[in-house]
Amino acid sequence: MTNEQVVALSEEYLLPTYGRLPIAAVRGEGPYLYDADGNRYLDFIGGIAVTSQGHCHPKVVAAIKKQAEELIHCSNLFQIPGQALLAQKLCLASSMEKAFFCNSGAEANEAAIKLARKWGKQNKNGSYEIIVAEDSFHGRTMGALSATAQSKYQKDFQPLVPGFKAVPYGDLEALKEAISPETVAVMLEPLQGEGGVHPAPWGYLEAVERLALEENILLILDEVQTGIGRTGKMFACQHYGIRPDLLTLAKALGSGVPIGAMLASKKVAATFQPGDHASTYGGNPLVTAAALAAFEVIEDGLVERCARVGAYFKKQLHALQKRWSIIEDVRGLGLLLGVELSVPAAPIVAAARERGLLILTAGERVLRFVPPLIIEEREVDTALEILEEAFEACK
Ligand SMILES: Cc1ncc(COP(=O)(O)O)c(C=O)c1O
Repeated sequence: MTNEQVVALSEEYLLPTYGRLPIAAVRGEGPYLYDADGNRYLDFIGGIAVTSQGHCHPKVVAAIKKQAEELIHCSNLFQIPGQALLAQKLCLASSMEKAFFCNSGAEANEAAIKLARKWGKQNKNGSYEIIVAEDSFHGRTMGALSATAQSKYQKDFQPLVPGFKAVPYGDLEALKEAISPETVAVMLEPLQGEGGVHPAPWGYLEAVERLALEENILLILDEVQTGIGRTGKMFACQHYGIRPDLLTLAKALGSGVPIGAMLASKKVAATFQPGDHASTYGGNPLVTAAALAAFEVIEDGLVERCARVGAYFKKQLHALQKRWSIIEDVRGLGLLLGVELSVPAAPIVAAARERGLLILTAGERVLRFVPPLIIEEREVDTALEILEEAFEACK
């Protein structure tokens, strides 16, 4: 099928929940994506911060093939060796105690919301309220959506799940004021991705961790986008030397197979008991085999590479800012970078795409770059050349 044929079929049969590009993605290799018409793109979208290992990393592909021939699924009624091994790896890397596996970021956050509520019932007189940040993004299921304090996502779906209160991101005083006897947890992204690529201000997360301890409330960190090496540390919280009570993961965890995880600290690890939460597919043999391989690829030097190439990319973006007054700000950590513009981002994204570079937006005026962590400086240089051509074209 050609791009055009796929577009026609999709338009006829798919619910229009996505504003899809007219590109039928049919093959991926490392940092490149190929479409049905044979065009090649330098992919700095990476499945929206998912294919950190590069498309179809040979080790991930081999693990999927091997596991598919042995056992694809069995349910969590059974012991699953790969799931236990992955849990061990994630807990050791994060200094967390136990893991629960599901299929997506939203589901990982649902698990965290439920666990926090049960913990509140057992330990804090039934307190249930979760304080979240304005402009957060935690997913589209009803619980996760209720935690996502952006009216553009919430407005058509009221009534939402009760028990969420939003405060400005990075504002410690507002958070202190919002805490009440009903508060059971505070839930934050260490760097707001969808909300515009906003890293937490220095000192904020450390102070939130201290506050949570003082107030006996849980700290939930959503590392769905920032986790698994994306920011130049295995987990973004490690930049700040903090450890949450609950940490949620998805995206790069499976390099493209649907897997999410919630990691729990010692303090809360005994909260969920059999029957409290479940997912038929969660952590099945196929996805955990893929995720184990994907994790090993990241462990094998990609976190350090991300920090190095990310620093180079940011430096070059600052250099670009000197030449282009439309760039108002450059921010981010590792290879999760944002460029705030004084003009709409969408035409520039389209012009870059026409020239073979795929990038994202984060809101109206922010360009978002989430390339695979396997890139080197030369791919950054190519991307920046194309970006500058796109700026020229949109002048
Ligand atoms: C920080 C964060 N949390 C949660 C989600 C939702 O993940 P999923 O789309 O896998 O449900 C996303 C997705 O972009 C995210 O960036």
